[in-house]
Amino acid sequence: MGPTDLQSFRSLTPDDMTDCLALSTEASWNQTPDDWALFLRHGRVLGHLDDRGRAVASGAVLPYPNGFAWISMVLVTASRRREKIGTRILEACRAEVIRQGLLPVLDATPAGEQVYRPLGFETMFRISRWQGNASGRGSLPGGIRAMTVSDIPAVTAIDACAFGASRRFLIASFFDRAPPLAFVTEDLSGFVVARPGRTATQIGPLVATDEATALALLGAALGAASGPVFLDLVDRWENMTRTLRQRGFTVQRPFTRMALNRATPLGDPTRLFVVAGPEFG
Ligand SMILES: CC(C)(COP(=O)(O)OP(=O)(O)OC[C@H]1O[C@@H](n2cnc3c(N)ncnc32)[C@H](O)[C@@H]1OP(=O)(O)O)[C@@H](O)C(=O)NCCC(=O)NCCS
Repeated sequence: MGPTDLQSFRSLTPDDMTDCLALSTEASWNQTPDDWALFLRHGRVLGHLDDRGRAVASGAVLPYPNGFAWISMVLVTASRRREKIGTRILEACRAEVIRQGLLPVLDATPAGEQVYRPLGFETMFRISRWQGNASGRGSLPGGIRAMTVSDIPAVTAIDACAFGASRRFLIASFFDRAPPLAFVTEDLSGFVVARPGRTATQIGPLVATDEATALALLGAALGAASGPVFLDLVDRWENMTRTLRQRGFTVQRPFTRMALNRATPLGDPTRLFVVAGPEFG
């Protein structure tokens, strides 16, 4: 067995937060300590350690309560790439998900897709990360109001329908992060939440019954956020794509939503506009 066999991974803990953050920051990703804390608290983070006990690679498994688990945060420090550590850590995550009797699902970067496809992951649909700037000076579109803490159960239910599993801990965590940036439709059929990231405010999830409502929710979020913004939009939504272009947004990178030996999407893709992010699904 080589230096990257499964024995060489250990579960990371909050004590490893500095190494975790260093890995995502080195890859120019947007995660904050609040994000890593969710993986460490609600999932399992595997790390590959160097001789000094420093985590030089990571992979997270986040079980969701409807038969599947999210694999993310697959990161290998630049100086240790192409040693098959990424493949091994993904295999270890996949084995952990299967051990729990769940379906492994993930959002792959183009580099990640090269690693995952040979392992049996299939494409469900494609997503694009859009980046741009928000002015923080917009007015609230009609039919939209600010989300309150008492909306969390309803928002969790709408999210579960679109995403495919209930994840109250995630909605509550995003909602709690300052400054609160979350909106619902007055009939409580749609919502959007945003959270501060390391380099940009991340908008998502955004769930709605139709694209016109999704555009209104997007307008509310972009009107309230200020500075750099990221959002991961499902590629099928042409009006949203056009609107983002008109607002000066550009595509930073594509993602592919993939599951092991499954191409049929989870949840209700007709309501899923902006995902929470490739790390959470
Ligand atoms: C993607 C990543 C995790 C791969 O880790 P790694 O340890 O270098 O990957 P491996 O050594 O296991 O690569 C296995 C195979 O995948 C393919 N591959 C890996 N990285 C690739 C890249 N950047 N471009 C094209 N193919 C790639 C190759 O076929 C490689 O086999 P080879 O080296 O024999 O040619 C790493 O590049 C990384 O951390 N990137 C930044 C973060 C990221 O994109 N993570 C994936 C999120 S989905």
